[in-house]
Amino acid sequence: MSLHYKEIGEGEPVILLHGFLENHKMWLNIAEQIKGFRFILPDLLGHGATPTVNKVNTMEEQAKSVAELMRELGVGKAPVIGHSMGGYVAMAMARDYASMVSQLGLFFSKTTPDNEVKKQQRLEAVRVVQRNKKTFVKLGMRALFDQGKLSHLRKEVSLAQEWGMETPVSGIVAALKGMRERGDTTRDLVEFAKPILVILGEKDTTVEPVFAEMLPARENIHVHTLPCGHMGHLEKPHLSQKYISEFLVRNFS
Ligand code: MLT
Repeated sequence: MSLHYKEIGEGEPVILLHGFLENHKMWLNIAEQIKGFRFILPDLLGHGATPTVNKVNTMEEQAKSVAELMRELGVGKAPVIGHSMGGYVAMAMARDYASMVSQLGLFFSKTTPDNEVKKQQRLEAVRVVQRNKKTFVKLGMRALFDQGKLSHLRKEVSLAQEWGMETPVSGIVAALKGMRERGDTTRDLVEFAKPILVILGEKDTTVEPVFAEMLPARENIHVHTLPCGHMGHLEKPHLSQKYISEFLVRNFS
């Protein structure tokens, strides 16, 4: 299945992968601000304008479709940066298509799998979204932001909810089941000797900031923890842009 995608800018190619219930639009603001790169923004399987034929979209299946898109576009290797579920896909790429990933970015993402409680919650989420997508998206997206700042983030929350509503139920269900099945990629991260960027949120309850403590102190790993929830691109767009831009510029110069 070919992925729908958008390209922004000219220069060295960079792949930006969106998260669950999102699509390429989440990256537009950041990609438009950072000059000198050819940003490739796919809609992952079952999200945005890319349909899904699978009942389960594993991170491996998603990684395979991104690698295929890179080949179609003549991109042999590039930095791959993913938000949350997009980061899980980036990790699968770093393992299964290592030569295609020149730098790795986990943007509010991690390498650890779902625990048993989370696995149960994924199944419950499948039932909820099949009954009422609108409520699922509305409440689910709002919960990702810093709860202490919701009154200042109304516009950002409704934008995220709008993107969420653009995700078909079939895509949401296949992603929930795929994330539930994902394995632990911590070793793959530790073995990845090329530059790694990790951006986390102090108030993120999906990817908790303690993830930083699992990372080895090595000079190829750059970690930043921002004062926000899970949605740094909307909650802290300037800081997100600054750290991504610095990472790319440093590693290409
Ligand atoms: C995401 O933002 O992609 C998801 O919340 C990640 C997850 O549920 O594990």
